[in-house]
Amino acid sequence: MYGEEPSGPAVHAAGVFRAAGARDVLELGAGHGRDALYFAREGFTVEATDSSAIGLEQLRRGALAQDTDGWVTTAVHDVREALPLPDGAVDAVFAHLLLCMALSTEESRALVDEIRRVLRPGGMFVYTVRHTGDAHYGAGTAHGDDIFQHGGFAVHFFPRALVDALADGWNLEEVHAFEEGDLPRRLWRITQTLPRGAPSPRHRPTSSSTTPACCASLFCSAAAPLFTAPAPALSRTSSPPTRRHPSTCPPGAT
Ligand SMILES: C[S@@+](CC[C@H](N)C(=O)[O-])C[C@H]1O[C@@H](n2cnc3c(N)ncnc32)[C@H](O)[C@@H]1O
Repeated sequence: MYGEEPSGPAVHAAGVFRAAGARDVLELGAGHGRDALYFAREGFTVEATDSSAIGLEQLRRGALAQDTDGWVTTAVHDVREALPLPDGAVDAVFAHLLLCMALSTEESRALVDEIRRVLRPGGMFVYTVRHTGDAHYGAGTAHGDDIFQHGGFAVHFFPRALVDALADGWNLEEVHAFEEGDLPRRLWRITQTLPRGAPSPRHRPTSSSTTPACCASLFCSAAAPLFTAPAPALSRTSSPPTRRHPSTCPPGAT
């Protein structure tokens, strides 16, 4: 339905994730994987989830074909359930056109709480939603909570107040309006980050003189070991090969 090319929001997100020093990305509602595969090609380790096993099967075939299968983990998962990851497991979360599916406001709130739980301090969440300025807002059957079913497809159109509410306790970095498709669909791309707070032990330098400059980047592995263990509910089909992170880390700081 969405083709093989990465979405514009994914291309943007890869840039901001890289600039923040992120290394691993959790993608929710990954579908057949156009964006997950792009993140993997861009050098990120990707954990891709979706409630559709069919889409994820296609994603895995794509990863094999592109030789990025060692960098992509998939899990069939409904985001109305707790995320299948431990606390503080990932640097960044991406969700394109997921929160505006038929999730109630309460389900969206619970999901964002879960995203907060699995992100490391300073972690970044980029998501997109159709909003109440969309031409289809109010069309079709109303299901409450700004959810309207039109042409057999239910969409939660986000009011700005909901974006702000979901950013409560986060730093809301950007709400970017854009259009997509023929209708056109009117969307927001939202970027929010977790406050850094106290540094976690893995990021605490032991000596400023031995810390490379790139370790100003929150997620640089040169400062301390990074999360490497796969989450219990996620499994990799093969071990990832060693490769350099896309950010400018020194040799040896993979
Ligand atoms: C509009 S598609 C977008 C797919 C992908 N992000 C992309 O842009 O190519 C929405 C995706 O969310 C998934 N989805 C819908 N409800 C979900 C839920 N409750 N939990 C997990 N995934 C869900 C669908 O299976 C579908 O793949």
